[in-house]
Amino acid sequence: MKALFDKFFSTQTPPEEVPQMMADLGTLFAGIVAGKTENPGDDLTSALIEASEGGDRLTTEEITNTLQLMVAAGHETTISLIVNAVVALETHPEQRALVLKGEVPWENVIEETLRWSTPTSHVLIRFATEDIEVGDRILPKGEALIVSFGAIGRDEEQHGPTAGEFDVTRTPNRHISFGHGPHVCPGAALSRLEASVALPALYERFPGLRLAVPREELRNKPVVTQNDLFDLPVVLA
Ligand code: HEM
Repeated sequence: MKALFDKFFSTQTPPEEVPQMMADLGTLFAGIVAGKTENPGDDLTSALIEASEGGDRLTTEEITNTLQLMVAAGHETTISLIVNAVVALETHPEQRALVLKGEVPWENVIEETLRWSTPTSHVLIRFATEDIEVGDRILPKGEALIVSFGAIGRDEEQHGPTAGEFDVTRTPNRHISFGHGPHVCPGAALSRLEASVALPALYERFPGLRLAVPREELRNKPVVTQNDLFDLPVVLA
């Protein structure tokens, strides 16, 4: 699964390899559904299968696609949350010290990273269902728009003049980096939990962790929807 999703998210995957990759993902998830149909357990796949039995509900293809969406939406995003938090801490030593001394909880680091360096930087594409007034402009009905969570997180009207700064002591820290409305991220609690386990564990094991290269040398993937690095070289100490 990891190999296939690495390929799925890589900007280096040749377009001609995409159909095979999608077919392989389909086969992989169909296998998981078949296995869980035979041996159900206390897990999401079994719950989806159970919910689809005996009525006009989810087809096998819909279950497979739902699982694929779950992993695709939940995997790279959470990796980036953890990675972006490490980058933010390692480039703000005074903030890092506050957290490692236990003066500020890890939850603050997670929320501030979601606001300041959010993994899902843009969502493509929504259409206005009616004329919408935005500031002194009208967004006409039917017009396509991109929602920029990255920009919203740094909006000075919302977060004040320090909106552009990474500050783990920021309160209140209201952001909408998991979206809003009917399609708000259903994995928000899970990714917060994952990051709240991974980050303290990482720094407990490697309290002297530091970036192995200057910040300017970290390369963002050229993907408009994501704020992901190609890689994060660190010294583990
Ligand atoms: C830091 C981690 C994450 C971030 C920043 C994030 C961000 C988002 C955002 C902004 C949306 C809304 C997109 C829109 O408005 O169309 C969304 C939707 C979604 N997310 Fe997440 N997500 C994260 C983790 C996860 C995890 C762990 C899962 C599942 C295990 C997940 C599953 C989904 C799914 C299935 C949707 C689509 C919901 C729908 O369209 O109704 N996400 N996510």
